[in-house]
Amino acid sequence: MAKPFVKALWKWPQWLLELFSWGKSFKNNPIIGSYWLNRCGLHVMRVILAQSLFRFRLLLLAPLVAAGDRRDFLRNGYILRKDFLPEEQFQCLVLELQNYEGQVREFVEGTTLTQRAFMTHRVREQFPELKALVEDSRLDRLVRYCSSKNRPPLFYIENLCNHANVTPRPDPQRDMHADTFHPCVKGWLYIDPVDDSNGPYIYVPGSHCLTWRRLKWEYRQSLEACKRGDARAPGRYWDGSFRVTERDLAEMGFQPRKFCVPANTLLIGNVYGFHCRGEAKARSHRMTVWMQARDNPFNPLFTLWPKSTARAFEWGWGKVLGRLDRGKLASGEQRNFVGRFSR
Ligand SMILES: [Fe+2]
Repeated sequence: MAKPFVKALWKWPQWLLELFSWGKSFKNNPIIGSYWLNRCGLHVMRVILAQSLFRFRLLLLAPLVAAGDRRDFLRNGYILRKDFLPEEQFQCLVLELQNYEGQVREFVEGTTLTQRAFMTHRVREQFPELKALVEDSRLDRLVRYCSSKNRPPLFYIENLCNHANVTPRPDPQRDMHADTFHPCVKGWLYIDPVDDSNGPYIYVPGSHCLTWRRLKWEYRQSLEACKRGDARAPGRYWDGSFRVTERDLAEMGFQPRKFCVPANTLLIGNVYGFHCRGEAKARSHRMTVWMQARDNPFNPLFTLWPKSTARAFEWGWGKVLGRLDRGKLASGEQRNFVGRFSR
């Protein structure tokens, strides 16, 4: 009886800190997941505060990008650039990434085998074309602005093998969802062309905006996510990545857009907006340079030292990944290997 109580005492400071950071789990954090606190508006207050600070930081970082890009990002929730790299440079990058050999994490989502390589600044030293992309000032400025944190993102190579010969598992990517309760960005430079055969990205333009309808929806979802056991509707509510139904989208007046795009297209999206991975109709591959920038939404400031802050985050995330690896490898959910991507 005393043991869980002591354990809970130990955890309270952490739970409280999470409340003022990017913590989003309604299951693991009993404060975030408290029905009564959310009934009183805890979740919606976090959403409003995070959104306001995001807009404030974007305003200050506006000089980083052109007015047209800012308009696109604020109105649609994403920026799309076709033919991002000069053709010759892009072909060299394709060759380099297709011949990548190194550390790969591999796991199954649905019938998709997802392979990812975490490309730290040290690893990038061995891949000059990727290094040149990361150091491209157009990309650097876009991502530093869109993240609202003035910090370059974490970089990965992601290779999806659709309809792979695997035992299917639940697929969190196929349901329309928002990644979390606050604005944050992910980016993709498509190495393969994308169409219905290899699962296009689907995004709901404008769904990143905090409208009154969205706020009411957030409130309802937060109460749903607090339910326990059989009372909880199926879906991934517990981790704070709320799922949205077609009916909810229609009620909020939204229309999803499917991104069938040629190779060498850059897409940067605010994943507080609703999105999912579209169905892949054939056995196929989809490789991207994948970028992720998530930060404390309640810190009103952004860094003045982008490069060194990015390295500090890279180091910290490397440690977290190592810890996550241990659990996933032990459960058989993930396989790590040194080698090449399946193509
Ligand atoms: Fe997502």
